[in-house]
Order: sequence, then structure tokens, then C-alpha cells
Amino acid sequence: MTETKGYFGQFGGSFVPEPIQALLDELEATFEKYKDDPEFLNEYRHYLVDYSGRETPLYFAESLTQHLGGAKIYLKREDLNHLGSHKLNNVLGQILLAKRMGKTRVIAETGAGQHGVATAAAAAKFGMKCDVYMGAEDVERQRLNVFRMEMMGATVHAVETGTKTLKDAVDAAFRAWMSDLEAFYVLGSAVGPHPYPTIVHEFQKVISEESRRQILDKEGRLPDYVIACVGGGSNAIGAFSQYVADEEVKLVGVEAAGRGLDTDQHAATMTKGSVGVVDGMKTYVVFAEDGQVAPVYSISAGL
Ligand SMILES: Cc1ncc(COP(=O)(O)O)c(C=O)c1O
Repeated sequence: MTETKGYFGQFGGSFVPEPIQALLDELEATFEKYKDDPEFLNEYRHYLVDYSGRETPLYFAESLTQHLGGAKIYLKREDLNHLGSHKLNNVLGQILLAKRMGKTRVIAETGAGQHGVATAAAAAKFGMKCDVYMGAEDVERQRLNVFRMEMMGATVHAVETGTKTLKDAVDAAFRAWMSDLEAFYVLGSAVGPHPYPTIVHEFQKVISEESRRQILDKEGRLPDYVIACVGGGSNAIGAFSQYVADEEVKLVGVEAAGRGLDTDQHAATMTKGSVGVVDGMKTYVVFAEDGQVAPVYSISAGL
């Protein structure tokens, strides 16, 4: 996974209208300026530890190990972060960049609601106005997270276009950004135009920095496999990052097969997709017969 100017192999890049490209260039310059800055990193670490509660445990799942009767299984407990997911790792990093850019309003998309909840909390913490775009279908399926975002002062916009799910929320969030170029877009996964995937990797790599140290402490060796679910890819990129150079460690990403890979009701874009441009980046996409991006099927919003 060598990155060249925002490309990972043939994937990535930036396919956006000009006004947005100017903002992305500014974001990239800010990120490059601060990513190794000791003061920035101290502040980021402070919030990871004292606000989010890191480090998260690497837990030996004894019953699951016995039940399955094969590999010794450890769980990296990202759910024990404040607000219940790994999303806060990235949100804290991006909001600290927003603060340095003098931003007072943030925009975010959300699917299951976890990224929206993390962004709403961080925006409240730093006194920023927060607008979250969420597909109307997801708003219905994930009422509790809508309630949590609103409780923390965010405005949740139910997106009624398309399939009324995550992809439409991303489109709506980009449109909102176009109409307020002063806002900061807090993007929640390893998707979107450069430099977002690079930024998300930088702020999620803490997962494998910790897990690598923890497994060496507990087992005196590296794991045979690291397994992560893949939605947009942020927990996977974070969980894999520090093992990429270890040839003996196999990295496995798992996509949702839904009602089956030979039906059109699944979310397996990497397994079944072809290369295309969506949400400002080159990636794998499942196309419908009419050439439009096909809706993904999942029993759970955003996953
Ligand atoms: C708890 C949790 N894990 C994983 C994901 C998948 O997203 P990603 O692939 O960006 O980690 C989501 C998406 O909303 C989530 O809420």
C-alpha cells in the first residue's frame, strides 16, 4: 500500500468540482503541516487518552475460542471508546485540524450513526456548529443515534434522495459543503477524494499501533490473521496499518454478502464491483444495468 500523490495503486485520487478542490488543497496543506507537529500530536493524544479512554483492551475471547475450536481469538475493543466506536479516533484528529483552520462549522455524513454521533460530540466539545446528513431510511432504522446527535446539539438532515442511505448522505454533505465553503467536512471513513483516505489512515492507525504491542506482550508473537469488517474501510485500514510490512500476518477484510453474492442484494463492492469513480475517488463500485451506482443491501444501516 504505497501512496503516490493520493493514489493507492490505481485507486484514490480526487475527482471533484474546482471550488471543492481548492478546499481539499488547503486541507492537505494543513494536514501536512501538523501531522508530525509535536504540539498537535500531544493535543491529539491527550484527547485520545482522557476524552476517548484509550488505549482500548485487546481481549482474549475465551468462550468464542472454545466454541469455534480453532484459532485463539482476540478482540480489539474499539467499542469501548467514548460514544461506542472507533469513529472518534478519526473525528478527534480532523476536528483538531478544523480548529487550527479557524473553522466554526462542521458537516458530516453518517450511515449507522456512529460517525455522526462522534462528530456531534467533538463539535460540541470545541464549540462548533454541526450539521449531519443521514439517509431518511437510516434515520428510521437508527433512531437512537439520531436522538444522541440531537441531544449533543447537532442538526440531523434526513436525506430523501436516491436510496435514502449512506451514499445519498455523502452526496448531500458534499452539496452542503459547496454552499458553505467556510465549513469543514469531517469525513468518517477511508473514502472520498484525496487527502481524506490518507488522513483517516493517519488517525485510525492507532488501532494497530496498540494491538501490535498488546499481542506481542500477551503472546510473544504476531498474529496469524488480522480480520476486520469493511464498510467504508476506516476500522480495517486502522486495524491493518501496522502489519502491512509483516509478511507472516494475513490481513482479511470481510464484506457483507447480504442475500448472496449471486443476487443483487449485497454490499460486497470489492468482491463483486468493477473500477469506477464515486464520491470523488476511484474505487470499486457495483453498477446497476443502467450504469448508475447500484444500491447496497444490508440488514443494518451503514454496515
Ligand atoms: C461500529 C462500526 N464499525 C464499523 C463500521 C464500518 O465502517 P468502516 O468500514 O469505516 O470502519 C461502522 C460504520 O458505520 C460502524 O458503525
